[in-house]
Amino acid sequence: MSKTIAIVGATGAQGGSVARAFLKLDGWKVRAITRNTGSDNAKKLASEGAEVVSANTDDEASLVKAFEGATAVFAVTNFWEHLFTGSSPAESGEKEAEQAKKLARAASHTSSLEHYVWSTLPSAKGATNGKFPVPHLDYKAEVDEWIRSDLPDLHAKTTYLVLGFYPNNFVNFPNLKPFELPASWGKWVQILPTSPKAVIPVSGDINVTPGLWTRQIITNPELTKGQYVDIAPETLSFGEMLKIYGEVTGRQTAFIQTSVEDFTGVWGAPGKELADQFVFGEQFTDGWGSASTLSKEDLGIKDDEWPGFRQTLESFKDQL
Ligand SMILES: NC(=O)c1ccc[n+]([C@@H]2O[C@H](COP(=O)([O-])OP(=O)(O)OC[C@H]3O[C@@H](n4cnc5c(N)ncnc54)[C@H](OP(=O)(O)O)[C@@H]3O)[C@@H](O)[C@H]2O)c1
Repeated sequence: MSKTIAIVGATGAQGGSVARAFLKLDGWKVRAITRNTGSDNAKKLASEGAEVVSANTDDEASLVKAFEGATAVFAVTNFWEHLFTGSSPAESGEKEAEQAKKLARAASHTSSLEHYVWSTLPSAKGATNGKFPVPHLDYKAEVDEWIRSDLPDLHAKTTYLVLGFYPNNFVNFPNLKPFELPASWGKWVQILPTSPKAVIPVSGDINVTPGLWTRQIITNPELTKGQYVDIAPETLSFGEMLKIYGEVTGRQTAFIQTSVEDFTGVWGAPGKELADQFVFGEQFTDGWGSASTLSKEDLGIKDDEWPGFRQTLESFKDQL
């Protein structure tokens, strides 16, 4: 009998990649969860063979129903939707944590559940003794702690999945996308509140890697339950990423380092949130260094299976 994976965020980047991976995996059925079953992405998932159901992470009862009979659940929350719709960083974090707790409680009420994969991030506050709080990291990490303390049975079935910086941000994230600076003789610039030498863990193509990693997590439960797994197969500096962008696009590039204050002045709350993350990241010269995580080698993921930063940019060159 086939097993079912219920996927929160299936119409988005992370969940979409998980849905595509499990639609191809023998013995599995995909249940895609969305607020809007009539959206183009939801209809596409249905046409590819997914069962598309309606639920909302603000409504725990809808999640309990959507998870019924599922063997596995992939769960992600979207901090940025709250921030881009007017909530402050702290309010966005609180809303995100509330949704994440509803997801976890609903999973803990699912009697058929064998594996819960929760997309989280490391605590900046925790790693810096409270010196550099970053709400879109910290509130997710607080939910990890809450699952461990308040839902120990769920913790025993949980894999905590930590994503790196998406290469896809070079297309999708307005304040990270390089742009042509007028009167600069054709230079494409990235203006960021960080040193170009600062490094960051990078996730590989977000349309592929969460699915590949989740497939390996769920098919190796004895290794992965109760554990942290990083999707950060590369660590790159911001300068290196822009250089690769220049090579892929054939454009001249320039990195301009600006202050947190000036970046926030232009981009408002989302700018401040990103700037805080970059300032936190500058504390770690080898990347964020999350504790005792399982590597891609531990999971049996081969290097020719995941599209890295350069390959990802090449695959959507026309959108850069
Ligand atoms: N950008 C990066 O470099 C990066 C790196 C690491 C981690 N992250 C984290 O990634 C998360 C976002 O994930 P993503 O990139 O996959 O987002 P995304 O592509 O914007 O998709 C968001 C998904 O969440 C679903 N969703 C949002 N609110 C919902 C609700 N109330 N009920 C049910 N579903 C809801 C949406 O479904 P419908 O709209 O169809 O309902 C959609 O499928 C953020 O929390 C961010 O911090 C980002």
